[in-house]
Amino acid sequence: MSPSDLSAPLPLPVRSDELLSRLAIRRSASAQLLAQPGPSDAEVEQMLLLGARTPDHGKLFPWRFVVLGPQSRIELSEALAVLGETQNRTGKEIASLAKLANPPLTILVVSTPIEGHKVPVWEQQLSAGAVCMNLEHAANALGYSASWITDWYSYDPAAVALFGVEDGESIAGFIHVGSLTEPSLERPRPNLEHKVTVRP
Ligand SMILES: Cc1cc2nc3c(=O)[nH]c(=O)nc-3n(C[C@H](O)[C@H](O)[C@H](O)COP(=O)(O)O)c2cc1C
Repeated sequence: MSPSDLSAPLPLPVRSDELLSRLAIRRSASAQLLAQPGPSDAEVEQMLLLGARTPDHGKLFPWRFVVLGPQSRIELSEALAVLGETQNRTGKEIASLAKLANPPLTILVVSTPIEGHKVPVWEQQLSAGAVCMNLEHAANALGYSASWITDWYSYDPAAVALFGVEDGESIAGFIHVGSLTEPSLERPRPNLEHKVTVRP
């Protein structure tokens, strides 16, 4: 991961019908269905570089990544199952841990906003969300499917501590990555008539 040359002009965007058509069918996977193959180490590095190339007000980079390989996720899901039992979590909540344990690769995106900065915390958190979305795009561009998941263990203080998430930080999402053996079904999309206001 080398620092970029800040004096080099970047090419202007050019129309890409391939990118447009890919974006038009972009779709998250069901995390439970993500199977091998997953990204290689070089592809993970590429995903992180592209994920980090995300707008953020003030160049604060108010987020960080935790790359969770299969072994760490098995151990974490076992620890979360024990924690969940002590908290009387529902069977559905315990079963949701399979989404964490099974995919070939998971990248945890942690929002790390600076409190009291002139850039509002909300904007810093939005940047972490943009990182998650860019990671999904990068995974898709490499030919993988991805799923952005939070679930109960993203909000429970004892659970987030197991992932090394510290005070003042929060989980923006677990980006699970792998391959699907069957295509996803389409998902309802909003009627833009109800979502768009156009002013002259
Ligand atoms: C911030 C965020 C959190 C999510 N958390 C969960 C979750 O906890 N469990 C889950 O099944 N899906 C979760 N999802 C995924 C959505 O339920 C849904 O699968 C996804 O947004 C599908 O969108 P797409 O097909 O347009 O990619 C989450 C999505 C986002 C953006």
